[in-house]
Amino acid sequence: MPQALRLGIAGLGRLGRRHADNLVHRTRGCVLAAACSPVPEELVHARDALGVARLYEHYEQLVQDPELDAVVLVTPTALHADQAILALEAGKHVFIEKPLALNLHDCERVEAVAAGRPQQVAMVGFVRRFDRSYANAFAQVSEGGIGRPFLVRSQTCDRLDPSGFFVRFAPSSGGLFMDCSVHDIDLARWMLGQPKATRAFASGTIAVPHDLAPLGDVDNAMGIVEFEGGARAMFYASRTFAHGHEPSTEVIGTEGKLLVGAGAARDRVVLSDRHGVRQQAVDDFFERFANAFEQEMQAFVDACCGRRPVPLTLQDATEATRIGLALTASLKSGEVQVIS
Ligand code: NAI
Repeated sequence: MPQALRLGIAGLGRLGRRHADNLVHRTRGCVLAAACSPVPEELVHARDALGVARLYEHYEQLVQDPELDAVVLVTPTALHADQAILALEAGKHVFIEKPLALNLHDCERVEAVAAGRPQQVAMVGFVRRFDRSYANAFAQVSEGGIGRPFLVRSQTCDRLDPSGFFVRFAPSSGGLFMDCSVHDIDLARWMLGQPKATRAFASGTIAVPHDLAPLGDVDNAMGIVEFEGGARAMFYASRTFAHGHEPSTEVIGTEGKLLVGAGAARDRVVLSDRHGVRQQAVDDFFERFANAFEQEMQAFVDACCGRRPVPLTLQDATEATRIGLALTASLKSGEVQVIS
């Protein structure tokens, strides 16, 4: 039996707790040996609810722990690049939540350090690639099932959170395109065969009154991206859907098309009564992608243990940031952005 991979997690917030829970209860071949957070209650949670023994207030302590083989970063996006580099330089494999970084310089710094350490895994968390339906769609596209794919229409639409969480999150998220559409951007590149993006145009609006405007963000936005060779992508992101969480992606080819995720229905139950005919909706991305988050962590652990290749590259993550930044710049300026 090979020894279990020993992991440390940094960040135990909204998503970090889910990853930690998966690592403890569902991921095979690993032990969640350490956790790091500047928030004492989060470390108490790791100790008491998850049985994590080694607890650190400072990230530098976590990466220097000689007992760890790998680090999982679920920290605010602006910290990803420096923390990933510290992990790699300490000899650890590293999983980095999306987006890799909010500027290209940071992406390229991580890529350069990782390139010098090819024996270490550096993987970015584009979770939808691990969803069964998206994986099936990609397999069918790859096998030529829809001919030559040339157009992707993809959306990430959240149910409105009346607590205003997304407003508080806006200053550190990079904005709607960097936070939400970055998933769709990665999917579009994946489905279209990684073409180079050449131009981007975006427009957005604030549909529900709240305090986003001073932060330079919007709660609904659309973007169009052109790629070399003629492929195109259209993105839509919303924080204000009334009924539920509704991500979907359509891939259109010369001999057919594929649709992943039409509507927000939770399951196949349809209630018909005197009010009409209706279905319950998916609450949020945790619910929609619960299985994909499990598969993603398993893929990371398996890659660290040499059991399968890393399923996506840092270059993919850099390109997603490049396109997300161009859309964000277009949203703010109203101008078409040339992507170099
Ligand atoms: P959050 O704000 O709820 O959690 C951030 C965590 O980082 C907190 O536990 C905080 O204590 C910790 N932290 C802050 N500074 C730290 C430091 N210096 N060292 C160690 N820990 C530190 O944020 P959330 O929503 O969990 O997002 C975290 C990351 O995950 C972001 O990059 C976000 O884009 C990504 N994310 C990805 C999703 C996906 O669908 N793949 C969904 C939600 C978030």
